[in-house]
Amino acid sequence: MRIYQEKDYNAMSRRAASVIAAQVVSKPDCVLGLATGSTPVGTYQQLIQWCKQGDLSFAQVHSVNLDEYCGLAPEHDQSYRYFMQTNLFDHVDIKPENTNVPSGLVSDPEEECARYEDVVKGLGYADLQLLGLGRNGHIGFNEPCGEFPLATHLVDLTESTIEANARFFASANDVPKQALTMGVGTIMKARKILIVASGADKADAVWKAFCGPITPEVPASVLQLHPDVTLVGDGSALAKLMEDKA
Ligand code: GLP
Repeated sequence: MRIYQEKDYNAMSRRAASVIAAQVVSKPDCVLGLATGSTPVGTYQQLIQWCKQGDLSFAQVHSVNLDEYCGLAPEHDQSYRYFMQTNLFDHVDIKPENTNVPSGLVSDPEEECARYEDVVKGLGYADLQLLGLGRNGHIGFNEPCGEFPLATHLVDLTESTIEANARFFASANDVPKQALTMGVGTIMKARKILIVASGADKADAVWKAFCGPITPEVPASVLQLHPDVTLVGDGSALAKLMEDKA
């Protein structure tokens, strides 16, 4: 596992973007697994800048996103499709038809999960999967539970996730209660993992994920079993981990 502890959010974002750029430069037709949340926004901004300067191209890249809220249309400003369009896809040269996000607005979410898992599998899974980290240790929307879910599935969001994500909605009541997410198994099939974490409120989750026991109660702890993980964080998110490793 490689760990980059950067001095602040901007440095963290540049470092994470450089890991993604290295992947795209070394394999222009790669499959990128992408994530939402506030943490990767700066990473995407850096990638957009490099793309606009002509230093990077996503023309041959396929993307697969981790998750989507159930019940939100792609045009809803809190849907993850909308997030990806506005924070990355609309500003780089990726082909719209090469981008994949689960659909939250379907009559049969289970069927959509199976379809999405087939899409990811059909692309040969991600060459590089970008992940954020929930405060409760979730990855994608794989919430703490009794066993690691394997494939893309429908999940009931925990109170702590609803509360954490309420800041993006008018109120906690407006946060969808369910989501579709790649499974831990789908994520672990990625050849490389890049996980980003920022801020003191992630320090515990980072520590539990990489220094604690491997348990589905901390979904990110499964990454200890992945052969190629890069963790990029700012000083405060990695503080507890680095103390332990010192
Ligand atoms: C959401 C997403 C996760 C993300 C997490 C952390 O729950 N489903 O993929 O990692 O939020 O978000 P943030 O980066 O805003 O802390």
